[in-house]
Amino acid sequence: MSILVTGGLGYIGSHTVVELIKNNFEVIIVDDLSNSEKFILNNIEEITGKRPIFYPFDLRRKELLTQVFEAHDIKGCINFAASKAVGESMVEPLDYYENNLFSLVNVLQEFRKRNISNFIFSSSCTVYGQADEMPIDENTPLKEAESSYGKTKQMGEDILKDFSRAYQKRVTLLRYFNPIGAHPTALLGELPSGIPNNLVPYVTQTAAGIREKLSIWGDDYPTEDGTAVRDYIYVVDLAKAHVAALKKLINSEEETVLDVYNLGTGKGSSVLEVVKAFELANDVAVPYQICPRREGDITVAYANADKAEKELGWKSETTLEEALKTTWEWQKYLKERTN
Ligand code: UFG
Repeated sequence: MSILVTGGLGYIGSHTVVELIKNNFEVIIVDDLSNSEKFILNNIEEITGKRPIFYPFDLRRKELLTQVFEAHDIKGCINFAASKAVGESMVEPLDYYENNLFSLVNVLQEFRKRNISNFIFSSSCTVYGQADEMPIDENTPLKEAESSYGKTKQMGEDILKDFSRAYQKRVTLLRYFNPIGAHPTALLGELPSGIPNNLVPYVTQTAAGIREKLSIWGDDYPTEDGTAVRDYIYVVDLAKAHVAALKKLINSEEETVLDVYNLGTGKGSSVLEVVKAFELANDVAVPYQICPRREGDITVAYANADKAEKELGWKSETTLEEALKTTWEWQKYLKERTN
């Protein structure tokens, strides 16, 4: 069965492609390489023994997208393609709306025209904003998103709700908490372009000596050690959830489905806990300094992921330390590659 994976060479996309191939899906990737690299395709082939079909173009190019749908009997889509830098989205909001939402609508139009169902959307826990209560379950009310990036996720969800209702389609919205880690082969991982915004890539580059010191954004939060708390979910576990969600959609007897799942571990970890776990797991030092809070950051977010366990038979299996070990192996691989 052919599945379109947009953004399939990106961080979460590439790990999901590997799991899809392992589960005998035929994968068709469309990725414009704006935040990914072509060698990832070779590495997917090295891991799985299969080279996915790959089209390098921007999904806003409708005519090229139509050609892909004409060439393949696509039965579903996992939509990863999107810009994701929170800070950048505040400076260039229109680019975010255009890139994240126009491309989504273009794919959905092809689904509508050809009467295809089974659509999985990469959403984010950012849609909840700072929730009033922890843990966050799927019924936690959504608050106005802090960033334009976050708004594209909320709007993307709304677009898909309308798509599912109006055209009787099967749709799943997956709300990721904080994805971390790399593939156990060290052939896939996150490729932050420039200075990383996210915690784990920054910690990793600091340990590798690429960055001098990690800045911890705030130690005066009302948490146990004063640093902010997140739910760090291992990327391979996350990838497996996509396969489980896709299978559920494909096997569903309903014509119209709108499922929403939180994907997290259910456990919150503070910034300092992540730093300590990284040091312990990899036996390296991570120099850091405490700085003022980062604008737009929330205090705490962790998931109640019981619904995914009950309905998808999925749960997070990998510990924070195990995940952080894979990140370090990936960093070493990247270093060897550039030497
Ligand atoms: N942090 C630091 N120093 C850094 C980087 C991060 O102290 O150099 C802290 C942040 O202040 C925050 C925590 O580490 O408290 C996690 O920060 P990330 O940037 O890794 O992750 P966020 O939770 O801020 O953002 C992530 C994704 C977004 C998504 C959001 C949903 O990057 O795409 O989760 O809450 F929108």
